[in-house]
Formats: sequence, C-alpha cells, structure tokens
Amino acid sequence: MKKWDKSKILELDRRHIWHPYTQMKDYENRDPKVIVSAQGLKLKTIDGEELYDSISSWWTNVHGHLHPALNHAICEQLSLLDHVNFSGFTHPYATEVVARLREFLPQELSHYFFSDNGSTAVEVALKMAFQFWQNKGVKEKTRFVCLENAYHGDTIGAVSVGGCDLFFELYKPLTFKTYRAPSPYCYRCEEHQGFTLSANHDCSLRCIDGLEKIFEEKHKEICAVIVEPRMQGAGGILIYPPSYLKKLRRLCDQYEVLLIFDEVATGFGRTGTMFAFEQAGVVPDIICLAKGLTGGYLPMALTVTTEEIYQAFYADYLEGKTFFHGHTYTANPICCAVACANLKLFAEEDPLNKTKEAREYFHKILLEAFSENPHVGDIRYVGYIGAIELVKDRKTREPFPQALRLPFKIYMRSLEEGLVLRPLGDVIYWFLPLCITKEDVSEIISRSQKVIEKVLKEHGAS
Ligand SMILES: Cc1ncc(COP(=O)(O)O)c(C=O)c1O
Repeated sequence: MKKWDKSKILELDRRHIWHPYTQMKDYENRDPKVIVSAQGLKLKTIDGEELYDSISSWWTNVHGHLHPALNHAICEQLSLLDHVNFSGFTHPYATEVVARLREFLPQELSHYFFSDNGSTAVEVALKMAFQFWQNKGVKEKTRFVCLENAYHGDTIGAVSVGGCDLFFELYKPLTFKTYRAPSPYCYRCEEHQGFTLSANHDCSLRCIDGLEKIFEEKHKEICAVIVEPRMQGAGGILIYPPSYLKKLRRLCDQYEVLLIFDEVATGFGRTGTMFAFEQAGVVPDIICLAKGLTGGYLPMALTVTTEEIYQAFYADYLEGKTFFHGHTYTANPICCAVACANLKLFAEEDPLNKTKEAREYFHKILLEAFSENPHVGDIRYVGYIGAIELVKDRKTREPFPQALRLPFKIYMRSLEEGLVLRPLGDVIYWFLPLCITKEDVSEIISRSQKVIEKVLKEHGAS
C-alpha cells in the first residue's frame, strides 16, 4: 500500500484547492476526509475509516467501486490506444459503445454524439434542437421551455434551462431567456395527501397546465422543452408520475416542440429501469446520457437523437448546416472501453433483476425508519434513489429556518457515522449503486436514522 503523508495532503489542499459546491470557509476548522481507496459500496480514508458511499460518488457509481470487469477493461485498453481526435477518425471502441447501447435504447434514437460530461451532453442537446429548426428554415423557433426546480448542469447553456434559483439567480444576466413552467413537485401539490412514495399515482396533472399554456401561446417560438424524466434530481429528488411524461410527449407532438430528456442522473438503472423514460412508454427526440455511462469511472457523455433531426444537418458543406460542436476528449477510447464493460455487465448479469428484492427492501425500511418522525414531511423513492424532506412542521409543511443549517450538520455528522448524507436543501437522500444487498441497505438506513434523529434532537426538534 502506498505511503501517504496526511498532513502534507491537507496542507496542500487547504492552501491551493478550491472544491466544488463548497464554501471553503466551512473547512477553516475542519479537515476534508482524505479518501485513498474504495471497494464495492465503501470508500476508505487515509486513517483507515470506512464510509458507505451512499450517494454513489455524485450519482455515478453503478456496480460498486473497483469492479474487476471494469478495471480489466481499462487496463486492457491501455495497451492499445490512449486517445485520438474524433473528427475525421473513428475507432472500434466508440462503435462498440453505440452497438451496445442500441440494445437498450429505442431504435428511433439512432444517432450518437459524444462529449465529456452531463453539462456538455445538455449543451449539445440545446444547440442541436435550436439548429434543427434553423436548418429547416423555421427561424422563429428559438426559445426553450424548462421547469422550475430543474437542474441540467453548470455551464451557461445548462444553467439557462435550470430552475433552481440557488444555481441560477446570480448568473441570470449571463443566461439566455427561457419559458419556465411549474415543477411536478408532488409533495407541495395541493391535491396530494401523505407521503409521495414512488409517485406512481394517477392524478389530474395540474402541474402540467402551466406548461400547456406556454405551449398554447408561444409554440411558434419554442424549439424544445427539456426535462429530467421521472425525477428532478438536484432540485430535491422530486419524484413524479410517469403519466406526466406521457402527457408531455402528446403536447410536444401537438405543438411541434422537440422533447429532450436529460437522463444524466436517472439513466443506467438508477430508477429501477435502464432508463427512467421507459416507465412512461414514450420516446424523446433527444436524450442526454453521462454519469453512469462509464459505470462511474471516467467522464464521458452522449447526446442521442433521431434520424429526422440528423437529416436536418446532413447536406452539402456549403449549405452551412454542419453541427459545429466538439470537445478535445470526445469519445476517448479508455472511457469507451469502460463504458462497453459497463454495458456488458447490464446485458449479461442483469443487475436490475438481481437486486430487485434489495431495492424493494430499501423502500420498505425507508418508510419504517422515518414515517413516525414528525420532522420528516415527505418520504419518496424510485429504484435505488430515496429521499426524505425535513420540515419544521409536518402539518403545515413549513421548512426549518435556513440559518440552522440542519442538513449541513446532518452531513457532517454522517461522516462520523461512516456514511455520506450530502443534502439538497432540506432533502436528505440516498443514491445507491445497483449492487446493493439487503444487509447494506439495512446498515445504511439505520445509521442514517441515528444521525438524523441525533441532529434533530440537538436542535430541540424532536
Ligand atoms: C440531470 C442532470 N443533468 C446534468 C447534470 C450535469 O452533469 P455534470 O456534472 O457531469 O456536468 C447533472 C449533474 O448532477 C444532472 O443531475
């Protein structure tokens, strides 16, 4: 085992590293955990502590850390080809990714554009949708519709179609104008009673009325709508019914608006099906994939679209219809190799079926652990994702004062209890890999319950 000097690492980190989504002053008097290795569901610190990776390292890890098949794929690839530019060249590893993914995606989605991460997959989708109408001569279709509480990444285009004010408001002057429709936030819906659970309910879908009105009035200028299917992730793990997506597809057809599904977080089994949109039985015009595409190992993304959209760009060069977009590491062969190994595991080992029981058990014990807690306003889950929304008052659904920073305190305390509970606003969530067992789930939820109850009690809230 390599010898590391912990104090040197922390000293260099403190002096020179600026971490993402982090108020660095919060770490003035505390050190970040130094992670040196990982295996399966667990991360290991330099001090030998083990932490359950209960958020799958930012929603990426699919089959557990250091899976032998994925490790092998990378090592093997390294003896052949490290990188080559992807314009004017191709390679077998990229074509194998496509061939393997075609086994899982609807055949209508037939053209694959590679990029590096979730945000770039979204940027590609937005530019593609915009240019589609321009290339067809429908020049006035230039605006996008997005949802409140949406999150599609941190680059400026992705922020423009975002709906979380925490990530959006400050940068608003830099963004392009969109139409923002209400969010399908079941827990905060007047019609809804009790916990959201899997949100597989029938309802009047009042939440889509606002969007329908925008389409009705403005469809001539709208090129596309973008949504996270089945669950708005960073907006607070807002799980909503598949019927919403069915209706959205109908509206898009009716008003000639392209439909973009951002499956960056929900793809690759996380919601219990390979892709979340399958649960609605509809097909989008464009889909964005990243995170789990490489099993959580390396950054790579895809934007996949239809023949109709592809054909709008396919022309003699001088017609000016080329899609001018690309990134240096597009379709990197090492990323492709690990993505192929990931897809091979899905094809040959059927992890979704294998861990169905553990997944259902996860839902059951989430309810058992939190339904009696008066400060848990909502419990929701889909597939390997679960969340609770903390409230000061369950009856009125009033949130705790932000100044208390309860979720942050829960996060810090969870690290002491050997797990990672990174909050999203007032929501504490679990984003588990597809290799979970009932024992892991049991341990993760009982530790979580302990931490949450302790912190609530310390603040006189239980
Ligand atoms: C739905 C969704 N889209 C896009 C992104 C952005 O992905 P990345 O962080 O890889 O840029 C995320 C990240 O969490 C996401 O959840």
